[in-house]
Amino acid sequence: MLVLGIESSCDETGVALYDTERGLIADQLHSQMAMHAEYGGVVPELASRDHIRRVRPLTDACLAEAGVSLQDIDAIAYTQGPGLGGALLVGASYANALAYGLGKPVIAVHHLEGHLLSPLLAEQRPDFPFLALLVSGGHTQIMAVRGVGQYEILGETLDDAAGEAFDKTAKLLGLPYPGGPLLSRLAEEGDPTRFELPRPMLHSANLDMSFSGLKTAVLMLSKQVEAEHGSIDEQARKDICRAFQEAIVEVLVSKCIKALKQTGMQRIVVAGGVGANKQLRAALDDATRRRQYQVFYPPLKLCTDNGAMIAFAGAMRLKYATPAGGFTVKPRWELSSLPAA
Ligand SMILES: Nc1ncnc2c1ncn2[C@@H]1O[C@H](COP(=O)(O)OP(=O)(O)OP(=O)(O)O)[C@@H](O)[C@H]1O
Ligand SMILES: [Mg+2]
Repeated sequence: MLVLGIESSCDETGVALYDTERGLIADQLHSQMAMHAEYGGVVPELASRDHIRRVRPLTDACLAEAGVSLQDIDAIAYTQGPGLGGALLVGASYANALAYGLGKPVIAVHHLEGHLLSPLLAEQRPDFPFLALLVSGGHTQIMAVRGVGQYEILGETLDDAAGEAFDKTAKLLGLPYPGGPLLSRLAEEGDPTRFELPRPMLHSANLDMSFSGLKTAVLMLSKQVEAEHGSIDEQARKDICRAFQEAIVEVLVSKCIKALKQTGMQRIVVAGGVGANKQLRAALDDATRRRQYQVFYPPLKLCTDNGAMIAFAGAMRLKYATPAGGFTVKPRWELSSLPAA
């Protein structure tokens, strides 16, 4: 079965083709990052308009990449939510119109299920059950995953998501949008021993986390450095970035290990944009190796939003395919409300 996947929940238009026999055979992406950069964040109306411009050419590029025609597609999967209402409507209406014209069914996909299952697109795939650390721009959750659609949230952030904390901290350090990846690059050249920031909820008995206090701590530290030295030079900024990254990585890794111990599970997968963070990967590799757990990541380019994870999640849910036509989007949508596949 050949599934076309369409992602348009935020600021990336992703279109991909997943074949249940051959795997991922085409994957096209357009990021709106440059367009939103001058506003310092995503402008929803601009995002919607850009999705409209991109989705058709990306679909054509996918068909060309895979060497297939529209008629070869068996079903069209699209992100129904959560995300920006207008942006979701673009993907949903394009998917439904195309499927209606072709006489093919549609599959409404939950964006976070796409992220969660993306490690199954890597060469080394985990078997179920596994623990999942979902660390994206809008979510930070630790979940027990027993099968497709069988998700139990064990712990989550009480305030900012990890990616959000990276982006907001980058902004207050004067880094351009989107700051997360840039902050992490600067952190690599920072001295981990120069500054120490708090590790929020590190020792709490549960698996919940909290990251909003970290940016305040960074702000206080920046003011202190500025007061002592007159300004924050390049090296001091790198050292502050490093201190922030050290804190966030230690909390995430420690909660993952605690969750593995509590559940008795042997495998953990990491999904979402922050899963691209090198220090997080290195620390998780180390902590799991020492305790003989296995850790799995999606291919780097599938950590952030993409069409491949939507095509794949759609392929896992073919039995929920419905005739194209009337549709809704779900800007807010609980992952735990999904039925098992
Ligand atoms: N190397 C990195 N280190 C830290 N953070 C990163 C890195 N690369 C990307 N990010 C962060 O990942 C986030 C984007 O990831 P993703 O696309 O999965 O999130 P999203 O789609 O915006 O959120 P959600 O899926 O929750 O709606 C941003 O917050 C970005 O700063
Ligand atoms: Mg996402």
